[in-house]
Amino acid sequence: MSTAVAPKGLEGIVATNSSICWIDGDAGVLSYRGIDIHELAQRSTFEETTYLLWFGKLPNQAELAEFSKKLAEGRKLDPKIIELLRSVPNSATPMQVLRTAVSLLSIYDADEADNSHDANVRKSYRLTSQIAMIVAIFDRIRKDKNIVEADPSLSHAANFLWMLNGEKPSATATRTFDIALILHADHELNASTFAARVIAATLADIHSAITGAIGALKGPLHGGANEATMRLLYAIDKEGADPVEYVKQMFAEKKKISGFGHRVYHTEDPRATHLRRMSEELSKAAGDTRWFDLSQRIEAFVKQEKKLNANVDFYSASTYTMLGIDIDLFTPIFAISRISGWAAHVIEQHDDNRLIRPRAEYVGPAYPAAYTPVSER
Ligand SMILES: CC(C)(COP(=O)(O)OP(=O)(O)OC[C@H]1O[C@@H](n2cnc3c(N)ncnc32)[C@H](O)[C@@H]1OP(=O)(O)O)[C@@H](O)C(=O)NCCC(=O)NCCS
Repeated sequence: MSTAVAPKGLEGIVATNSSICWIDGDAGVLSYRGIDIHELAQRSTFEETTYLLWFGKLPNQAELAEFSKKLAEGRKLDPKIIELLRSVPNSATPMQVLRTAVSLLSIYDADEADNSHDANVRKSYRLTSQIAMIVAIFDRIRKDKNIVEADPSLSHAANFLWMLNGEKPSATATRTFDIALILHADHELNASTFAARVIAATLADIHSAITGAIGALKGPLHGGANEATMRLLYAIDKEGADPVEYVKQMFAEKKKISGFGHRVYHTEDPRATHLRRMSEELSKAAGDTRWFDLSQRIEAFVKQEKKLNANVDFYSASTYTMLGIDIDLFTPIFAISRISGWAAHVIEQHDDNRLIRPRAEYVGPAYPAAYTPVSER
C-alpha cells in the first residue's frame, strides 16, 4: 500500500474512473459524456442533458418524449411529504427542508429496498421531479399561498416556475432557467457528488446518497456560494458603498469573495460565460442593470487584484434575481439541477461498486500513549 499523503483537500487526486463528465481546468472545457457544455447550453434542454448523463447518449425524438413523460409522471408527492413541509417552523431554510424531505421521500418510495440498476433509474426520475416540486411547494406554503398542481404538459424548467409562481412562465424565463439547469447538471467529482458516491459505495440507497449530497451542497464553499454572492451584492447596494472599496476591504480582512475562484478551473469557468450573458440580457430587457453592473465592477476588480475568475455561482446570483427568484432558493435550484448528475454518479457507482475507504496519516500522540485511570486524572 502506498504511504504517500494526498494533498490537503485531495487537490489533484484522481479518485475514480467515470465516463460521465470531463473537465480541462486549464483550457476551461467542461463536457458531459464528451459533448461540450457550450453546445449543450445553446442547443439542448435539461431533459436531453439529463438523458445524456444517465444513459450515455443523446436521445432520439421518441426516447426524449418517453423520458419527458416519465419525468412528468414522477411529479407526485406523498401527502406525508406535504405535511412535513407544512409542519416546519418559519425559521426553516429551503435547503434544510429539502435535505429533510428528500430523506423522508425514501420511506414512501416503492423501490426503497432495491438498489438494482433499473430501480436506481426509476428512483432517479422520481427524485428529479420531486426535488423541484418540494422547493416550489415549500416556498408557496411559507408564503401562505395555495399549492399549484404540477402540469404534465410543461417541461421540467417551465413546470418548476409554474409551481413556484402560479403563472405560466414566459418563453425567455423558461429558456433562461432551462440553460441554468443544463449548466449546473454535473461537474465530475465536486464535493457533493463525491459525497454521494462515498455513500452509494457502502451500498446504501440512492435517497441516502442524495440526502448527503444536499448536505454537502449547502456549504458556502460549494452550492451555497450563489446565495452568498447575492447577499454581498445586496450589502454593497444597501450601504451605497463603492464596490471596489468594499471588496478591497474584504481582501484586507482576508475574507473570500463568494462566486470567485475554483479548485479545477484556472481560467474562465465555461458556465460563467453563459450566466454572465443571461444576466446581462435579462437586466437590459428589464431596464434594470443595477445587479449586472455591480457584478461586472466586482468581477473586473477581483480579476485585476487576485487573478481570480468568476465561477458558476457569481452570475447565477443576478440571473436568478432578475427572474424574480428569492435568494434562499438559489442553492435549492442548484440541487434541482444537480440531482441529474448525482443520480448518474450513484448509478455508475452501484453498477461497478467497491467501498470507498481511504486512509488518514495519523498525526496524533505517539502510540502507545499511556492510559491514566479516571481517578488519577
Ligand atoms: C472555490 C474554492 C473553495 C476553491 O478552493 P481551493 O481550491 O481550496 O483554493 P483556496 O481556498 O486554497 O484558495 C487559494 C488562494 O486563493 C485565494 N482565494 C481563492 N478563492 C478566493 C476568493 N473567492 N476570494 C478571495 N480569495 C480567494 C485564497 O485565499 C488562497 O490564497 P492564499 O494562497 O493567499 O491563502 C475557493 O476559491 C473559494 O472559497 N471560493 C469562494 C466560494 C465559491 O465561490 N465557491 C463556489 C465554487 S464553484
